[in-house]
Amino acid sequence: MDRSPPAVTRKLLRVLDGGHEFPPPIWMMRQAGRYLPEYRATRAKAGGFLDLCYTPELATEVTLQPIRRYGFDAAILFSDILVIPDALGQHVRFSEGEGPLLQPLTLEQLVDLDASSALDRLAPVIEAVGLIRAALPTETALLGFCGAPWTVATYMIAGRGTPDQAPARKAALIDPERFSRLIDLLVTASIDYLVAQIDAGADALQVFDTWAGVLDEAEFERWAIEPMRKLVEGVRARRPGTRFIGFPKGAFGFAERYVAATGINAIGLDWTAPLAVVRDVLQPRLAVQGTLDPMRLVVGGRVLEEGIDAILETLGAGRLIFNLGHGITPDADPDHVTAMVKRVRAAGGRS
Ligand code: CP3
Repeated sequence: MDRSPPAVTRKLLRVLDGGHEFPPPIWMMRQAGRYLPEYRATRAKAGGFLDLCYTPELATEVTLQPIRRYGFDAAILFSDILVIPDALGQHVRFSEGEGPLLQPLTLEQLVDLDASSALDRLAPVIEAVGLIRAALPTETALLGFCGAPWTVATYMIAGRGTPDQAPARKAALIDPERFSRLIDLLVTASIDYLVAQIDAGADALQVFDTWAGVLDEAEFERWAIEPMRKLVEGVRARRPGTRFIGFPKGAFGFAERYVAATGINAIGLDWTAPLAVVRDVLQPRLAVQGTLDPMRLVVGGRVLEEGIDAILETLGAGRLIFNLGHGITPDADPDHVTAMVKRVRAAGGRS
């Protein structure tokens, strides 16, 4: 009888586990989104954006849409990083064209947050994870996710996205003790939420630190690295071997330190990362994910081809997950995505 462990059938997981694949596995941040007509139709049926996130059947449907259309190597749970503050009792609204809106939180109001029932409120999202896994092709990896504590805290304090998240930076500098209590609360809630996603069938977890790039070195260490280290350690203490992709956007200069301290399996990079440095400094240590400028998907044609080829040529010999450097934008052309997938997958044929 063959007693060897089952081979990992999902290409993206083989890369996270230390393997090299060429052509690389491919998926896109925000792959379920407004650039797709089928997403817009389901979203209209759901009513509000959060209704979409909290209705398991609809969240499952929109998660699967880009998989059906493009056959990506990974699906990502359809939800939002702001379901955590919502579940903690800081009500979140999404208004058309304006993005998320929350009642801004002062550090004095921290006591009002209710962590005890947060996971219960997220039950519909966890239910969606199970439905998605059951509906996905065997070879497609399923990614769970959450926002990094720092990025979630920036929205909680400002009440919305601001150009450089000054309100949270200011709060962290003025009152680091209380700010660290907010971060710790988010670390704890996120660990519970991520463990539940793993138990429901997620293969790996991406942590989005979209606003990591507004922090100086000392603050990055304290509010981006340290909470991420605790998050990874906390989940792995309960579910050993959990695979993580970290995405500290806009912080390439601190990436080596972030990787060494957190123990992630892959790092997501935006399009400002210098590819030859990524190849020489990061790829020997872990898999890298990215880095196509989403604007190249809007423009298409030669601009898109050149962007794809530069990534494949410089990073293709190392461990790579092909992706964008940030989410696809609503004005991207779905046919450009088809062209991108085709070109990446044809790359194996060229040498
Ligand atoms: O397909 C996927 O990637 C999975 C779903 C997903 C969404 N948001 C759906 C969404 C994921 C992984 C996120 C993460 C998220 N949400 C982040 C981190 C990644 C990033 O993009 O930086 C952040 C900062 C948020 C908070 C957020 N949610 C903002 C700032 C906005 C408004 C901006 C926008 O694009 O409208 C959202 C709304 C949102 N989240 C949409 C989607 C598909 C669009 C809302 C709609 O359909 O009306």
